[in-house]
Amino acid sequence: MTYSEKVRETTTYIQSKTKVRPQFGIILGTGLGALVNEISIVDEISYDSIPHFPVSTVESHQGKLIFGELAGKSVVAMQGRFHYYEGYNMKEVTFPVRVMKMLGIEKLFISNAAGGVNLSFQVADLMIIEDHIDLTKENPLTGPNLDEFGGRFPDMSQPYERKMIDEAMEIARANGIRCHEGVYAGVSGPNLETRAEYRFIARIGGDAVGMSTIPEVIVARHMDLPVFAISAITDRCDPDHLEKVEISKILAAAAQAEKGMTRIIRELIARQ
Ligand code: HPA
Repeated sequence: MTYSEKVRETTTYIQSKTKVRPQFGIILGTGLGALVNEISIVDEISYDSIPHFPVSTVESHQGKLIFGELAGKSVVAMQGRFHYYEGYNMKEVTFPVRVMKMLGIEKLFISNAAGGVNLSFQVADLMIIEDHIDLTKENPLTGPNLDEFGGRFPDMSQPYERKMIDEAMEIARANGIRCHEGVYAGVSGPNLETRAEYRFIARIGGDAVGMSTIPEVIVARHMDLPVFAISAITDRCDPDHLEKVEISKILAAAAQAEKGMTRIIRELIARQ
């Protein structure tokens, strides 16, 4: 069975399990866990039960698709995402994005945690991704092009929809949420960066660095799906005063940023 056939079969399966026909897709990364509480849930489908979905590792074991209503719009939310560093290849990482597009979503919303390379950022600030630099080790579009989804050489001149960035910045300002616009550098992980790598990322124009999102955005843009993405800045990556990263501190910072991020996404979706 080809990849496209798998996407179609998975889509048909999901549509047999829920009557919800989502208008928007959300990837609930770090910092957006609480958004689930604002969704009026109609159906939940655990990843384990969905044909062709990547097989769960321990970390994403609890993963599920959540169908329901948020801010008056029908949505599908991925609770738990697949990271390249867990051992999935990029086609597996991005399989759910293909499926969400086939389910009919018109826009994709993504969140993540990222290190603040721009030293004017503070821990627990938010950064709306305005552009990105792909430093990951594999591209999800390599191999024969999937013509039914998009062209061979997808345009990347404006990967993140300008109108949604402006709307989100407006929402942040109106609510006193500390929020920047910036460039996200995507790496494969799972190790954090060396001091020399942080210096490199800052010099080439990165404002934040993280281990997700880029593959999903590339595949979304291949399908001409408009994207909005936002990072919770969880640590300051100052090469001259670099502290040892503690994952507990990163998670605490993400939790601190959660309220503002949830608000921005909810109000942004309400406006679409
Ligand atoms: N690098 C990569 N990913 C991250 C970081 C970082 O410094 N902080 C949080 N996620």
